[in-house]
Amino acid sequence: MNYVIGVDLGTSAVKALLIDREGRVCGEASEAYPLIQEKPGYNEQDPELWVKATIVSLRRLIRDSGVNGSDVEGLSFSGQMHGLVLLDEEHQVLRNAILWNDTRTTEQCREIEAKLGERLLAIARNRALEGFTLPKLLWVKWHEPELFAKASVFLLPKDYLRYRLTGHIASEYSDAAGTLLLDVSGKRWSAEIADTFGISPSLCAPLVGSGVKVGTLLPDIARETGLPETLGIFAGGADNACGAIGSGILSEGETLCSIGTSGVVLSYVGGGDADYKGKLHFFNHGKEDAYYAMGVTLAAGYSLTWFKETFAPDVSFDALLKGLDETAPGAGGLLFTPYLVGERTPHADALIRASFVGMDASHRLPHFTRAVVEGITFSLKESLDILRGAGHTIRSLVSIGGGAKNEHWLQMQADIFEADIHRLDSEQGPALGAAMLAACGSGWFDSLEQCASIFIKRTKTFRPNKEQAERYAGLFRIYQRVYADTRGINEALSAFRTS
Ligand code: XUL
Repeated sequence: MNYVIGVDLGTSAVKALLIDREGRVCGEASEAYPLIQEKPGYNEQDPELWVKATIVSLRRLIRDSGVNGSDVEGLSFSGQMHGLVLLDEEHQVLRNAILWNDTRTTEQCREIEAKLGERLLAIARNRALEGFTLPKLLWVKWHEPELFAKASVFLLPKDYLRYRLTGHIASEYSDAAGTLLLDVSGKRWSAEIADTFGISPSLCAPLVGSGVKVGTLLPDIARETGLPETLGIFAGGADNACGAIGSGILSEGETLCSIGTSGVVLSYVGGGDADYKGKLHFFNHGKEDAYYAMGVTLAAGYSLTWFKETFAPDVSFDALLKGLDETAPGAGGLLFTPYLVGERTPHADALIRASFVGMDASHRLPHFTRAVVEGITFSLKESLDILRGAGHTIRSLVSIGGGAKNEHWLQMQADIFEADIHRLDSEQGPALGAAMLAACGSGWFDSLEQCASIFIKRTKTFRPNKEQAERYAGLFRIYQRVYADTRGINEALSAFRTS
């Protein structure tokens, strides 16, 4: 058989990618679903829509590619992290999924810190942040006790999708790492953390590795999609782990910048005992027994999408980004901080909000666009600096996602990060990582590294321009002051945040 499929369950859409043995993209299909934002800070989705959108995408993928479904050997997943899907005893969904960018759980985070103290970092290796899953579980326990009493198991988004395609319940390490319930280096659910919060161990599904074959396709799904019932379904990984796999971040010294709805800078880490003191996220990789350290900008691509939809709904992204060619670094003295939904790195703060600082009567749409793109990139530079401060030597990064689609933005990354930026030949991000897990699981390759050597090609490198880099370094210092200078104002304003 000659094909595998990678399914990336994103925040705005699911994307299915058909890949052949040489790593060529032979088909692509995508289907969107909405965010449910009932109150400020709330971000939910209906898991049923994930399943429907995936089936539609898979059916279209096979139909439009002209490939015979029975020639597809394996399928695996990448997924938005941290989202809470609660199931009852019949494995019916109990409520909408609460997503990674939902910030309602500040009180629960404080409870976790108060009860676990240093044990949290020692076991889960991450700080209590609103986006993670344990605070969401506790929120449901506090606010919806009757519903919580009916819960028999919780799953992460792509693990739920895989359950619906195979009928097998399983959690997977790279996603379980983002729950705060996993003993990250021990690779087991932490009984100590679960006990502390009265979480029954049975709520945590059995753990598997990303490359493990979990099952095959349920007959109904096979019929609906045109794929064979024998299709091997592999566990898959968190979107950032899969983004790393799909960009070849598989050994020490490799760093990724990925700009999707959120933006991340992550570096490969070979062993589980690295200590970032909670300043960065530290998660299991999709490569067995490997890890990565990561900083997260919650609203990266989302800042640009929000900006476009709010202020330039009729302008295409390409036309909007032309603004980068028409303006100079610094956007004529206009700065943007991308804290639209609060922030994670370096400021773990659910109350902070975004700012435009320095608006001048001469500023037009291109200045604002440039300020937004620069602000997103400055924010990622803060994560990069923490990685560097923790001892990672980062002279180059692979860039993927929205930020890699525009050459001007890639050059800006090189200048702001003061590092070489590699662009990939066919940049497919997390969905390619998922397809690589399926390819290795299907026995096409002995290792992810071997697969990467065939599937991933770097085509162009953007090198820092000394003059621009110096100019950006000056701007970055000003950017870094905005958080502290607007923190109190945003806290006061939070009382007025109603829909
Ligand atoms: C990572 C995170 C986001 C989501 C986006 O911790 O919350 O990057 O994974 O899908």
